[in-house]
Formats: sequence, structure tokens, C-alpha cells
Amino acid sequence: MDIIQTKNYAIELGSIQEWGLKSLLSKNYPNAKVVMITDENSYDYCLEKILNQFPELQEAQVLQLPAGEQYKNLPLVEQILNVISEHNLSRNDLMINLGGGVITDMGGFMASIYKRGIDFINIPTTLLSMVDASIGGKTGVDLGSLKNQIGVFAEPKALYIDPEFLNTLEPIQIFSGYAEMLKHGLIADKAHWEALKETKPDVVPSRIDLIKRSIEIKKEVVEKDFKESGLRKILNFGHTVGHAIEGMYLTKAPIIHGLGVAWGMMVEAKIATELGMLSADESKEIEEFILSIYPPIKLEDEEIEEIMHLIQFDKKNKEDKILCALITEIGKCEYDVEVKVGMVEKVLREVNVS
Ligand SMILES: NC(=O)c1ccc[n+]([C@@H]2O[C@H](COP(=O)([O-])OP(=O)(O)OC[C@H]3O[C@@H](n4cnc5c(N)ncnc54)[C@H](O)[C@@H]3O)[C@@H](O)[C@H]2O)c1
Repeated sequence: MDIIQTKNYAIELGSIQEWGLKSLLSKNYPNAKVVMITDENSYDYCLEKILNQFPELQEAQVLQLPAGEQYKNLPLVEQILNVISEHNLSRNDLMINLGGGVITDMGGFMASIYKRGIDFINIPTTLLSMVDASIGGKTGVDLGSLKNQIGVFAEPKALYIDPEFLNTLEPIQIFSGYAEMLKHGLIADKAHWEALKETKPDVVPSRIDLIKRSIEIKKEVVEKDFKESGLRKILNFGHTVGHAIEGMYLTKAPIIHGLGVAWGMMVEAKIATELGMLSADESKEIEEFILSIYPPIKLEDEEIEEIMHLIQFDKKNKEDKILCALITEIGKCEYDVEVKVGMVEKVLREVNVS
């Protein structure tokens, strides 16, 4: 069992049998009502294992949400909060978010706004949520096509990760989390990038060392700048373009978050090269590796226009300027780099294959 201690809580990474959840519940929440937020898949594939291991949670009220990014929105939050309120959940009670990034983002958000905040615990069940979404205190929901436009910073009281949960995940979801892991390497640790390149995505669930390293990178960056006034922005590498592509697809046929990020990293690495910040060789290495794992970007003209429109709304922009986190070499990243909208469009059109 690995314990990664953050400033305010511990991340326990290892078999469910070894988690300290039982003692946390008996010590801190002996008489609390517990509500568990799941989606249809974490309900089917993960809930039973939790309830078998922790019989004290048999009494918990379990809510099952529809699965998917298209439900990460305010109308569903209101619906769920109504149910929680009907069950008289009080300030001293506890929410457990069991699921992927959609559930940890939305559950954390609901826990922090219900009665001005109740405690919550995250149990991420996708690779992406284990290495990224459930860590760092960003919670929230989308507003139409605008990703994560509504939200608050709020941290869980504890985080429990058992990579065994990844065994039931669809392979495409492993590819999604793998993209964020590649990002961790690209922005902060060349050795991690190299190790990931040698480890094809389907093997990653068995590589606790790689999962742990990604968690550590995310934790280290977040702890230096929790509210994202500076350094934390490097975690947005690939996300300015990635979020816009993902947002464009959101109301049509949603794509996995990691695919948007992978495409975004490829485009943003090329932008860094155009700006003279990143060597053409490293940019090529990134593009070639991403295209060996993920499909190429294939966009219609009007889709590119919509993406450019969404980029203007990105929270990372200031006064109409596009501010990006861009890498200067593999393992090093700068933030608040001003990029002209025209440059983004030019590079996006260059990599587009349709
Ligand atoms: N807060 C942050 O810092 C942060 C960082 C990165 C991403 N995110 C957010 O995370 C979200 C994406 O997370 P995600 O990729 O986990 O998506 P997700 O939560 O939609 O999960 C992906 C799919 O896997 C299913 N699933 C979950 N656990 C499973 C299991 N063990 N077995 C089988 N199926 C399972 C889900 O039902 C869903 O269909 C996006 O909304 C993104 O914006 C947040």
C-alpha cells in the first residue's frame, strides 16, 4: 500500500483490503448518514466490492446517475441535491463519490455547495480520475459546451485508489487516462514520459509505479499553487485546444476527455515550436507518439470555426488574449504564454487530415 500524503488529506493507493476507510468512518463519522454518488457503471462494477469490504456502508443511501459527460451539468446537480435534501442530509454527514472524473467533479461540487459544504471522500474508478480528476480540489460542471465553467475548489477528506477497479473499464477509457499521464511526463518529468512510451496503455493498469508517479506530479504541482494563480496552469498543457475540441463534440457525439487532451498536446506542442520555444525534433516525437496511439484529428471546416469560437471562451484567457501553457522541452513547461488566435487556427488546420 502506498500513501501519498497531501497537505490536507492522504491518498491511499493499493488494494481495497488495505484501505483505512473503515477506521476513518468509525473515527470521524460514527453516526453520520452517508450518501454515495455513483453512475450506472460504477454502480454495476464497483459498488458491490465496496459494500462487501465495508459492511458499515450497507446503510448508505446510494444514488445512481446516468453515465457520461453530457450529464455533468447544473440541471442534474439540482435534481440530485433535491433528493439529498429530501433525505435530510445534514452538515455533519458524508458524501462518497464512487466513479470516474464526471462523478468526482460533480460529487465534489455538490458536497461543497450543499448546506455550504459537507465532507466528501473520493473513490475514483477510472484511470483518468485516479491520476488526475479526483486530485487537486477542482470540482464542477459544464455549462452548455463550456467545459467546467461552473465550480469551486474543494478537497476531499480522503482519497482511496485501487487499480483493480480498472479491470472492468472499457479499453478506450484507459487510453483517456493515459493521455493525462503523458501530459504529466511532458510538463514535469521526462523519465515518466519515456517510461510511459515504453508501456502501452493496456499495460498501465498493472503498473502501480506509473500511476503513483502521475499522482505525485499532479499533487506536487497543485500543492505549490492550489488556486491556479501561477504554476498550476502548467497542468492545462493540451487543454486550451483539447477542451475546445471536446466542447465542440459535447452536444453531438462526445469524445473521451483524454482524446481531446492528446490532440490538444499535439497541436500545442507544434504551436510551441512555431513560437521557437520547443525543438522541432521534440515536437515531432510528441506528434508521432500520439498518432501511434490515438486517431488523427479529422475536422470539418465549420467544426474548426466552432472550436475557434470556444477557444475565445476558455477560462485560461485574459482580455481576449489566448494564454496557453506550452512546453519548452519534454519535462518542462511554461504558463501564460500569449498565443495569437490565428496561430492556433493555422496549426489546427495543418494537423487536420480531412
Ligand atoms: N477536476 C479535475 O482536476 C479534472 C481533471 C481532469 C479531468 N476532469 C474531468 O473528468 C471527466 C472525465 O473523467 P473520466 O474520463 O473518468 O470520465 P467518466 O467519469 O465519464 O468515466 C468514463 C466512463 O467509465 C465508466 N466507468 C467508471 N468507472 C468504471 C469502472 N470501474 N468500470 C467500468 N466502467 C467504469 C463511466 O460510467 C463512464 O461511462 C471530465 O469531465 C473532465 O473534465 C477533471
